[in-house]
Amino acid sequence: MGVTSVVEQLKAELGSPGLVLSEADEVAAYTSDWTRKFSGVAPAVLRPRDTDEVRRCVLACRKLGLALVPQGGNTGLVGGSVPRAGEVVLSLSRLNKIENFDAASATVQVQAGVVLQALHEDLAGRGCVFPVDLGARGSCQIGGMIATNAGGIKVLRYGHMREQVLSLEVVLADGTVMSNLHGLKKNNTGLDLKHVFIGSEGMLGIITRAVLQARPAPEAVQTALLALDTRDRLPELLTMLRERLRGLSSLEIITQDSIALYKEVEPGTREPFDKAYPACVIVEEETGAGENERDGFLERLSGVIESGLAADAVVAESEAQAQAIWRLRDGVTEAISRAGLTHKFDVTVPPGALPGFLTQMERFGDEAGGLRTLLFGHLGDGNVHVNMMQKPELPEDEFLAKGPALAERIYSLVAELKGSISAEHGIGIAKRAYLHHSRTAEEISLMRGMKRLLDPDNILNPGVLFESA
Ligand code: FAD
Ligand code: LAC
Ligand code: ZN
Repeated sequence: MGVTSVVEQLKAELGSPGLVLSEADEVAAYTSDWTRKFSGVAPAVLRPRDTDEVRRCVLACRKLGLALVPQGGNTGLVGGSVPRAGEVVLSLSRLNKIENFDAASATVQVQAGVVLQALHEDLAGRGCVFPVDLGARGSCQIGGMIATNAGGIKVLRYGHMREQVLSLEVVLADGTVMSNLHGLKKNNTGLDLKHVFIGSEGMLGIITRAVLQARPAPEAVQTALLALDTRDRLPELLTMLRERLRGLSSLEIITQDSIALYKEVEPGTREPFDKAYPACVIVEEETGAGENERDGFLERLSGVIESGLAADAVVAESEAQAQAIWRLRDGVTEAISRAGLTHKFDVTVPPGALPGFLTQMERFGDEAGGLRTLLFGHLGDGNVHVNMMQKPELPEDEFLAKGPALAERIYSLVAELKGSISAEHGIGIAKRAYLHHSRTAEEISLMRGMKRLLDPDNILNPGVLFESA
């Protein structure tokens, strides 16, 4: 079927104005991803406004033999949100209503296309927080975050998306709407099916609604940036911070090379300390309100400095100063994207292995040639974002060609250390060839079986997770 006739048939099936986009300039915004490494062509973009329209879109695609790529905010980093073989894009952006807040259970029902920041703002007005937060908050959507089981900067206290989801509504590949929305924490009534879809990256069903657990807003949040003289004592630092800061809510690391890149991209940035340290660590603790609580935080930090595990600290005196510290962390991810193409690895290693692992990554980057290695991540979870960026003198094709060998080398080491090849971004297209480093053959076989059961015709995000179903 030619592109024109596909579009005409979709329009004939779906009818409603605005539901089918097919002009090249309209479609283009949906076909390349945030990393600029993944892109494809799509005959059309479907933009349903509610669950029933999602169902109709799925049925129309089935009828016409078209595959679908569900797309939320398109901030995913593993290539799963854009077409790769002429699939139709199904955008969830218009399902953007926060539908109901239940004060007694502090639960909130949302449509899949609600942007994370909108949910944060809505709950702030109710004295609550949604405790998952990440740099893409202005664009990523709740449905995409559930589909990737997003992590972010508060996992060590509150967990991933999985820990916040109470129930889901999902449209299956045959058009069935599976909806059992409730805010129950306790519900042991057989298999907990929501977990099949959380982290399934759009290849088992299309998430259209969710009920999420909100949390009480902390009375006060203390934020500090620590400077480290050495990365060798990171495991000891982790132990001490965990023991002393009982309300620890974020613990992030940024190594010196990443700070240097950020300063190149944002030349006006002031150095946080009077000299460059091998690494900086952001510490955030939720405490009670008042001077005594703050003094307690300062005392705990002084103890860390006295122990020699940190060399210096900047403590935020105001909300604006806390935001400036976080700007550095969020800014590193943005700066890397703006500075060049990057081979991205998002791995977990056991905390005890962190110092050696960071050094190994720099060595692998140097040995590959023409790359700049930038390391940062969610220290409290042992989650390192390894970015190997193209130096300007390395031609793009040579840079891209280095990806598979680097991946094999890094993931083999991660597997040896009993870590994970994908801490939080998922597998998508980018990591499917390496899944065996983190999952057993039996597990992969069961996953394939579930795909065949739920999507026998392979129309939902084909190629994600496995090369073929
Ligand atoms: P998309 O990118 O649109 O889609 C991601 C995947 O989910 C795709 O496979 C897609 O097909 C599927 N999908 C989307 N919506 C649905 C749906 N409704 N139903 C079924 N499948 C669907 N991730 C983290 O975990 N932690 C971080 O700290 C973090 N920081 C980031 C910072 C920046 C600056 C950026 C750009 C990204 C970051 N990410 C992070 C990655 C990304 O934001 C997350 O993976 C996020 O959850 C993706 O949400 P999205 O709505 O953009 O999904
Ligand atoms: C971050 C993304 C890359 O933590 O996960 O900034
Ligand atoms: Zn991250």
